[in-house]
Parts: sequence; C-alpha cells; structure tokens
Amino acid sequence: MDAIKMLQGKKILLGVSGSIAAYKAATLIRLLVKEGAEVKVIMTPAAADFITPLTLATLSRNEVPMNISDHSSWNNHVVLGRWADVMVIAPASANTIAKMAQGLCDNLLLAVYLSATCPVIFAPAMDEDMWHHPATRGNVDKLISYGHQQIPIASGELASGLFGEGRMAEPEQIVAWLQQHLPKASNNNKPLRGKTVIVTAGPTIEHIDPVRYISNHSSGKMGIAIAEALADAGANVQLVLGPTSQQTTHNGVTTIRVQTAQEMFDQVTARYPNAAIVVAAAAVADYRPANVADKKIKKGEAQLHIDLEKTPDILRSLGDQKGPQQLLIGFSLETNNEKEYALKKLREKHLDMIVMNSLADAGAGFNYDTNKVTLFDKNGKETSFPLKSKQAVAQDIVSAIIELQHA
Ligand code: PMT
Repeated sequence: MDAIKMLQGKKILLGVSGSIAAYKAATLIRLLVKEGAEVKVIMTPAAADFITPLTLATLSRNEVPMNISDHSSWNNHVVLGRWADVMVIAPASANTIAKMAQGLCDNLLLAVYLSATCPVIFAPAMDEDMWHHPATRGNVDKLISYGHQQIPIASGELASGLFGEGRMAEPEQIVAWLQQHLPKASNNNKPLRGKTVIVTAGPTIEHIDPVRYISNHSSGKMGIAIAEALADAGANVQLVLGPTSQQTTHNGVTTIRVQTAQEMFDQVTARYPNAAIVVAAAAVADYRPANVADKKIKKGEAQLHIDLEKTPDILRSLGDQKGPQQLLIGFSLETNNEKEYALKKLREKHLDMIVMNSLADAGAGFNYDTNKVTLFDKNGKETSFPLKSKQAVAQDIVSAIIELQHA
C-alpha cells in the first residue's frame, strides 16, 4: 500500500512531555500534517520550558492545551482521548513514563492518557543511565504489558554531552514507524484488546541426571507465531516457552522461560485466573524420570532402566478449572488415528477448540516453518486448511478464536 495513504485522515493526538527532545515535536507535527494526518497536541507544563505552545499550535493548526483547567474553562480529557485514532507520546520522558506506569494523573497529558481508549505509542527520550535504570526498565515493561507500543530508542550524542542510548527517534523515523505499525495499532483491528492470553510453546526437558534429559523435537515456532498473531490482535500475551533458541521481540508478548513440564504447569497455573484465553501449543513431555540422579550416571551394565512417572497434564488441569468466560484451545499431535484422538482430547480436556496436526503430513509438525492443521470446535465445526506458513496458520487459529468468542 502507498505509504502516504497510511496516515491520510488519521487522527493523531501527540503528547509532548518535558525533555530537550521536545524541540523535535515541531518537525514531527509538520511531517504528520504533510502526510495528511489530523494532529492535535497536548503538552506537559515541563515541555513548555523546551518549546512554546504557540509553535506547536501554529504547526498543528489546533490549540495546544496544557492544564486540566484554565481560569474559566475545563479541558475535557475524555473527549480528546476518544477523538484520537492513536495517541503518540513523543518525547516520553522518564518522569512521564513512570507516571503512566503508576497511573498518576497530575497534568492534562496524563489525564488524557489514562482515559484514552485508542492505542498508545510512546517514544522515550532521556539520558542513557536513566534509560538503563531498573526503575525505568520496569516502567517501560509495564507500559508494554498494558498493550502500548514503544518506538525504538536511538543511540548517539545526548543532551548531557555523553554518547549512548537515550535519544528519541528522529521525527522521520517516528513517521516511518507509524506508517508501518499504525494499521495494526488501530482499534478496529484489535478485537482482543484488553484480553490477557496465555500461550504455551516449545518442548519441555525432563532431567535424568545433570548431563542427560528426555525431550522432543518442538522448536516453539508454532506457538511463537500464535503468540505474535494474538498480540497483533491486541491481546496482552504471556508466552510460557520451553527451552528453544527461538524467541520473539514482539512488544505485546511477555516471555516466561521454563524448562520442565512441572515449571510450565506452575507458571501457567499461576496466570490462569487472569487469562481470558489459553492456547496450549507446547509439546509437553508426558513422562519424566521418577528420580533425577544428582551425579552423572556412569556407564555400567549393557542395559539401563529408568523408571518414568507421569508429568502433570497442564491442559487437563486447566480444563477441569475452566471458568464460564474462559476459552481453552489445545493442540493434538499424532502419527495415526489423528481425528479420533483429537476429538477425544477436545472432549476429555473440556476444550473449546483443538488444533490437529499430524506427523504423517509432509511439512507439518515439529520444526518446519510450515504446518497443516484441522480445527475442531466444541460445537462440532470442523475446518481443514492446506499446508501454510506457521504465521498464516496462526492467523487462521486467531480468527477462529475471535469467532468462538462471539459464538
Ligand atoms: O514447536 P514447533 O516445532 O513449531 O512444532 C509445533 C508442534 C508440533 C509442537 C505443535 O503444532 C503441536 O502439535 N503441539 C502440541 C504437541 C503435543 O504435545 O500434543 P499432544 O497431543 O501430546 O498434547 C495434547 C495437548 O495437551 C497439547 O495442547 C499439549 O500442549 C497439552 N499437554 C500435553 C501434555 C501435558 N503434560 N500437558 C499438556 O498441557
């Protein structure tokens, strides 16, 4: 699609907070207006120390309010937040990020942010040491966990004279970022906005001794693709991921790394009460050694017997506790009698939908970049898809989940 069309007619609410980078807001507004966007600006009182409201009002062709109330009037923060297709906070200072994370509301910008129903995007700007401080890291993580998106921070010369990370992205980069991400960030394309979703992915490993373990061939690719597709649909995704070199940098996905089935069980169970949807794509080991040797088992007799015990069945346990508003999606991986086994799991684990894939299908299952699935839902609906990329399969699964939500 033509890049210019991406921002044409978009209502962009620009929040400018107190940072030397506030001077870049002038160029940013000019570029956004040139791209056809309608821009309204609000600024914090601290931002006015760096650039005048008059400059930003002239460029945006709109008034620039700063305070919740003036002597004779009250600025309606709810209306501004609802007017916008997107709220962009640029520059977002360490102070404003901290207040957003905590839900503080001592100026108009924060009041609008707290009441905004549109997607929120922030472009941090601060000194490098402030950016790396654990408090700032935690605050940024919190904003991302709220479903907000962060425009990558730049490196270079800082206002302090030091060189390092902390510069706000250049206005041209912010515009390019919005052109690329805004269609995804628009409210209409975010049917899972506000929902917390747990996704399990990857293998588990079950230790035999400090050197050896039992595992399987899962790469985590399928589950990660689902986590990203759910995050694109607006969900706050908690990805509980077994040992794999695969990873995601998607802003809407928080990754919790685990090794064993028991650890995956514990992490998923702790998050379950707050989850609207769970998608279990992990290949969880069904058995683990009953005893884990604390020293390496030495080579001895010709045969070695290891007693195995069952691991907890995570999905079954979730199915047993499922609340009326929760959706539970499982996977079924078999080599034969695929449909029969898949329907048995759908029934016995109290699932809303099961995704069947088979190792008998070329290009499907472990580690491939492709998969071939059939979806069975609890209402008897069966949908088969051809071999596709795991990203495209993930889209199909997310569409089916959204449909189930409204069924
Ligand atoms: O990771 P990739 O390389 O991309 O490969 C993707 C995949 C093949 C691993 C994936 O598409 C898949 O099929 N995942 C489920 C594999 C599996 O363990 O299937 P199952 O039929 O054995 O288990 C049924 C369901 O119960 C699954 O949702 C599984 O996550 C869950 N389960 C199983 C055992 C257990 N102890 N706890 C569970 O929650």
